[in-house]
Amino acid sequence: MNEPRVGEADATAPADGQPQAPAHEQGRESEATAREQRREGEGMAADIAEQPAVMAGMLDHGRDDIATVAARVAERRPRSIVFTARGTSDHAALYAAYLTEIRLGLPASLASPSVVTVYDSRPDWSDSLVIAVSQSGGSPDLAQVVAAARASGALTLAVTNNPESRLAGEAELHLDIRAGHERAVAATKTYTAELLTLLLLIEGIRTGTGRIDPAEAAALDKLPELAHDVLDGSGAAELAGRYRFADRFVTTGRGYAYPTARETALKLMETSYLPSLAFSGADLLHGPLAMTDPGVPVLAVVGSGPGGHAMWNVLTQLGRQRADVVVVGAADLPGQTARLRTPAVDERLAAILDILPLQQLALHLAIERGENPDAPRGLKKVTETT
Ligand code: F6R
Repeated sequence: MNEPRVGEADATAPADGQPQAPAHEQGRESEATAREQRREGEGMAADIAEQPAVMAGMLDHGRDDIATVAARVAERRPRSIVFTARGTSDHAALYAAYLTEIRLGLPASLASPSVVTVYDSRPDWSDSLVIAVSQSGGSPDLAQVVAAARASGALTLAVTNNPESRLAGEAELHLDIRAGHERAVAATKTYTAELLTLLLLIEGIRTGTGRIDPAEAAALDKLPELAHDVLDGSGAAELAGRYRFADRFVTTGRGYAYPTARETALKLMETSYLPSLAFSGADLLHGPLAMTDPGVPVLAVVGSGPGGHAMWNVLTQLGRQRADVVVVGAADLPGQTARLRTPAVDERLAAILDILPLQQLALHLAIERGENPDAPRGLKKVTETT
């Protein structure tokens, strides 16, 4: 870990050569600055806190629409599912790719928009369901992929937080993730809303009727309360103080937890500007393990199912490196230096819960480091790529 950054103690010093406000105004200015600072992060904090309600809203009001779309897909019997997405939504797509292969037994892939937009190629997707995942539905490249897929005969579906978006209009089918307005640039509630929507969709396709299995439904009904409990007592804020001076992170997980590792790394990079490398636990052992040491915090997502068990060996190897390992999961594990507490649930549901304390960690870390996580430098809410 690093020492405090050079110049940090001078952060409040007036800029060279700038005229200073009269003393009585300086007081007012610093009050205003303090208010401003208090506000920093409030948007992201509110987005994070809203997640149990967004989940409940989807479970109460969104299921019928998803069942209708899932039934349409089941009827078409696609031979594979192709996902296309960017950033956070790409991580939701990766989660859905695991679901597709594990729960439906269908091959899944992630299509690179550049194949269509840069190389002007037109793959034959006629046997596939092509799903574009996007919070905004506003990136032109995703709309172009969907248009190309539709022209090739694929069934197309857009999963967005904006039913009025170009992407939603371009696809044959649309699902609204019902997350509502997101205040911060960094996506949080839209991510878990995408995960839940995709889980309901894939489980609906699995039964063939569009409706999910009653046992699954009962487990899902507990999700909002579990999410609330996680957010209430994760210990993320305390952990942020400890890693305030970290200069990089490694994140890792396997299976359904791998998208969580990827999304965590993205959140740390965009809110705290901390280089963060995400690896599947297996890939970590194929070389990158060598760069871990006590100075590089490792956030390891270790669930209570097969993916979590597959991480035990990874933890042993990290222990040999004397790595500083924070476990995200339901149990304390040998070698960990700390744990972010999440419940022991099926790993498909764990993906929706494990990210919550990691979002909180990113939020608090940014604030501890004097950054404004609501408005990361150089980023806009809608990124238009081609
Ligand atoms: C990260 C974030 C971005 C977006 C990405 C795609 O917090 O919000 O990574 O996920 O720019 O945007 P959408 O989902 O709107 O296509």
